[in-house]
Amino acid sequence: MMRIGEKLGRYFSLVSLSSVLLITVLSNIGMNVFFTTYLRSSQESDDQAIAEYTRELLTEEGSLDEQDLMSIEHYAFTMKAEVILENEEKEVILSTREPIEDMGNSKDTQNYMDPEKFSYREYTYGKDRTMYIGRSKSVFSASPDRKFLLTINFIYLLSAVISLIIGMLLRNRIKGIFLRPIYAIQDNARRIEEGEYQLVENVNTDTVELDELAGSIKKMALRLQNQEILRRRLTADIAHELRTPLSTVNSHLEAFIDGVWEPTPERLVLLQDEIRRLTSLIRDLGDLSYMESGEIRLAMSKVNLTELITNIMDGFEPLFLSDGKILLDDLAKDVFVYGDSDRLNQVLVNILSNALKYTDEGDSVEVVLREKKKTAEIIIKDNGIGIEKKDIPYVFERFYRSDLSRNRSTGGKGIGLTITRSLVEAHQGTIEVESESGKGTTMTIILPLYTAPE
Ligand SMILES: Nc1ncnc2c1ncn2[C@@H]1O[C@H](COP(=O)(O)OP(=O)(O)OP(=O)(O)O)[C@@H](O)[C@H]1O
Ligand SMILES: [Mg+2]
Repeated sequence: MMRIGEKLGRYFSLVSLSSVLLITVLSNIGMNVFFTTYLRSSQESDDQAIAEYTRELLTEEGSLDEQDLMSIEHYAFTMKAEVILENEEKEVILSTREPIEDMGNSKDTQNYMDPEKFSYREYTYGKDRTMYIGRSKSVFSASPDRKFLLTINFIYLLSAVISLIIGMLLRNRIKGIFLRPIYAIQDNARRIEEGEYQLVENVNTDTVELDELAGSIKKMALRLQNQEILRRRLTADIAHELRTPLSTVNSHLEAFIDGVWEPTPERLVLLQDEIRRLTSLIRDLGDLSYMESGEIRLAMSKVNLTELITNIMDGFEPLFLSDGKILLDDLAKDVFVYGDSDRLNQVLVNILSNALKYTDEGDSVEVVLREKKKTAEIIIKDNGIGIEKKDIPYVFERFYRSDLSRNRSTGGKGIGLTITRSLVEAHQGTIEVESESGKGTTMTIILPLYTAPE
């Protein structure tokens, strides 16, 4: 394991070093190739100039005397070329180089040539006369050329060193730019690990990915914090739900045993109600764990949602009437979905019970059913007590009951919507809530429409 800063630093040095190296090598090669071709072509035109010069001298004078040969030699010298001139008899009349071996007076051209070090070009001049112009095989033999190449390479070396230094300096800056936020995020993760969600801090960075990561971690902390709050509240709520009916039953039984109260049928019915409440709570809990296990089995068939809703509303009508509330409907005809009619029934009963429970006398509830883009949309809108903003995100959580509803005499368990959402999702649907405290609540359920099998 290596710290990220160290790793980053190493890679950065490696990359900057190798790129400088690569540039040096490549441009050296490029320079050499370019420079060689340049030198060679300029040498060639120099050679032609020498040959031309020789030809001109010969045509002007008819033959070459000492003076002419000296000026050719001089000319060759300024062009840094080796020249060997032959006369018509193929004898050497001028060579800028001494013969290789001391061959006395030999006039043989071969004696003046050094093919290992020089390459020769042949030119004719006059009638049947040949001249050879030799050039060093290594292009950079002449010291100014070599000096030029050395200077260029020195500049490369210098720039390599400078860019390495810049790299070192940048390396530290880059470490600062990337690592500071990473360490801050790491600190946040550690705080979450220790359960100190509220200590998670904002991370300042202008790097997109790091900003997103920091954001996700912060959201995760908030979520975990909420879960933690819910978990505590859940335990308290279950205890409360169980304690109330049990203590009612207990106090009644004590009164019967002590002979304070007669166990009249009315009193026994009251006890039975409490026991029913407990039983239904336990049944709901069982339902919930079954549904949340993901093993929920639906008896699917083509369901006429319009009929289903009409029937449920007929059942609710008297309850609304007796409470002095209004139940309205606006249902599209024959909307079909593919689903489990008992479960869909349960969904609507849960939501309508809530609408009934959380409205006051004179309030109204409207159920709308319509088709919208291959979906069936069911909207149940009431103008009852509403839900406070802070409670909205939690109404689908187990046992969650807003403080507004807790204050009402109509005891609920806070499970209805949890079950409802599981069922809707098992039908590939969605359920959403919109609400404003004091103004009312709108529940929107969207289910995929029935499509005939192909
Ligand atoms: N139509 C509504 N108007 C106002 N508040 C609502 C409405 N529907 C749901 N709520 C809020 O959401 C909470 C959760 O609803 P849910 O149906 O899960 O539980 P419940 O009605 O309290 O109990 P039960 O499990 O018996 O249905 C309610 O306690 C209430 O605070
Ligand atoms: Mg309910």
